[in-house]
Amino acid sequence: MARLELRGVSKHYGAILAVEGIDLTVQDNEFFCIFGPPACGKSTLLRLLLGLETPDAGSILIDGREVTKSTPAERNLSMVFQNLALFPHLSAGDNLRFPLVERKLSAAEIERRVAAVAEKLHITPLLSKLPAHLSGGERQRVAIGRSLVRDPAAYLMDEPISALDARLREEMRVELNRLQRELKHTLVYVTHDQEEAMSVADRMCIMDHGRIAQVGPPHEIYNAPQSRYVAEFVGSPPINLIEGRCEAGRFAAGNPDFAVRIEGGAGASAAVLGVRPEDVAVARAPQPGAIAARVYEVEPLGAFTVVALKAGERVLRAQLPGQPQFALNEPTFVNFNLERCHFFDGATGRRFATGARPA
Ligand SMILES: Nc1ncnc2c1ncn2[C@@H]1O[C@H](COP(=O)(O)OP(=O)(O)O)[C@@H](O)[C@H]1O
Ligand SMILES: [Mg+2]
Repeated sequence: MARLELRGVSKHYGAILAVEGIDLTVQDNEFFCIFGPPACGKSTLLRLLLGLETPDAGSILIDGREVTKSTPAERNLSMVFQNLALFPHLSAGDNLRFPLVERKLSAAEIERRVAAVAEKLHITPLLSKLPAHLSGGERQRVAIGRSLVRDPAAYLMDEPISALDARLREEMRVELNRLQRELKHTLVYVTHDQEEAMSVADRMCIMDHGRIAQVGPPHEIYNAPQSRYVAEFVGSPPINLIEGRCEAGRFAAGNPDFAVRIEGGAGASAAVLGVRPEDVAVARAPQPGAIAARVYEVEPLGAFTVVALKAGERVLRAQLPGQPQFALNEPTFVNFNLERCHFFDGATGRRFATGARPA
């Protein structure tokens, strides 16, 4: 169990900035996700925590104790790497025993820990098998198990399930959640998959080119993104964005023609309205304040339907419950749930207001 802190941490590789000015505290027992696109510095953060890299600036603390210059062994954190490698010539059980044998634990203690972890991961019947005789998902469990047997201060996982197929990933997500609750351990988990991050994290941090864009619980990040970057990066189908201008408490866009009143925003300036697809309503009859649009594409996904609508030159997406029927090119009228419209500064991308009223 451990609280992990990064204070003003930066790391460059030659001229390449990997991470910069990172201030982050992962609480004891927290399931914390680091989320962002490739090359934004996620793995670097884990390697810095683990002690495989030293920062150029800043400090790292575990439970308030400075470890910036400590070796990985002194930090006692356990890592599951992106490209997990099991020893192919060792059975699943021996792969689990390996880190414990290395640490010269007694045979009885080793068997106790291996049995306990195998049971948690539902791999007890697999222990005698060689990795080549296990499925991808089973191998993944063994690899995760190998990091769990050590009883470290915290677990670090670098995209541990990204190589699995979609169905297995979903299964492993549930398992990881359950496991983390049972283990009651700090878990820092890196992923580039937003659904994965949203579904497992107590809190998450979104990275943007080596810097932190936002930290918070998933629902907060989804409902109150601090910037256009975060709004666009979290949510699928992605948030709709409409560029316009903000003047005297009024946001107006020209393509499509659309205006609403908002609180906040100073002077006349470029602004961007963001509205999530589930906050877009589609009607067949004209509505006050609605945008005229034509049905461009329909994706029936079972529980809901994503309708793409062409409004002027722009395509807006609506996510509608159930299986509504639309014909291609059908004329429609689009309204937004104004309470849930976000407004971003056109220059900086910062959110300056949420919620609007009819113009
Ligand atoms: N050992 C290294 N040498 C040089 N550049 C590196 C090294 N490790 C990472 N980088 C660079 O640092 C940036 C962040 O990398 P990384 O932390 O691996 O990103 P992520 O895990 O988010 O994909 C990238 O531009 C990457 O190319
Ligand atoms: Mg990485």
